[in-house]
Amino acid sequence: MPTSQHARGPMPHTRARHLLHPLRGLILSPGALARRLDLPEDAQVLEVGPGPGYFSVAIARTIPQGTLWLLDIQAEMLAMARERLERLGVANVRYLQGDAMQLPMEDGSFDAAFLAAVLGELPDPERGLEEIHRVLKPSGLLSVTEQAGDPDALALPQVEKLLRRAGFRVERTFGRGLSFTVNARR
Ligand SMILES: C[S@@+](CC[C@H](N)C(=O)[O-])C[C@H]1O[C@@H](n2cnc3c(N)ncnc32)[C@H](O)[C@@H]1O
Repeated sequence: MPTSQHARGPMPHTRARHLLHPLRGLILSPGALARRLDLPEDAQVLEVGPGPGYFSVAIARTIPQGTLWLLDIQAEMLAMARERLERLGVANVRYLQGDAMQLPMEDGSFDAAFLAAVLGELPDPERGLEEIHRVLKPSGLLSVTEQAGDPDALALPQVEKLLRRAGFRVERTFGRGLSFTVNARR
């Protein structure tokens, strides 16, 4: 994970290789996040801010009859994610360049959504969560992961407060400190 050199706002795509560092799995592996999400095999899932797709491969593989939609504000990040997923033979994925603050999707489109190391990069995190709330189906899952070492990481109490203010019901928390996943329901 990056430790410095960019202020609030999207992490520059030129630093994406840090996100794919193998030692990152010591904090939270993609497989471990997939287990935390525990998705049905046919789920329609939105990943906001996938970067180069560190978590996307494992998540897409848990929904073989479903689709993982990757939305990132940086075309370069999406291109890296596409190259990685295609190289690994993961095909149940759609790629969209867009802004989390104004999602280009209909209301009630997704069974689940997740973000990892993204919420603190949004200019208005509560508004971003409200947008995700809008595009989730009733009782849809939103999973927010934050990781130590990310200069934009938000603390667990902040994330729980933001989720509640955006209309979510916090259901379960994994981990603690600056490395955690919060699962919430619409
Ligand atoms: C620190 S990276 C994390 C990437 C990935 N989730 C991971 O954990 O490896 C944050 C990502 O969020 C994206 N991002 C930041 N602001 C965004 C916004 N407003 N809308 C969509 N994506 C955004 C960035 O472009 C970047 O790819």
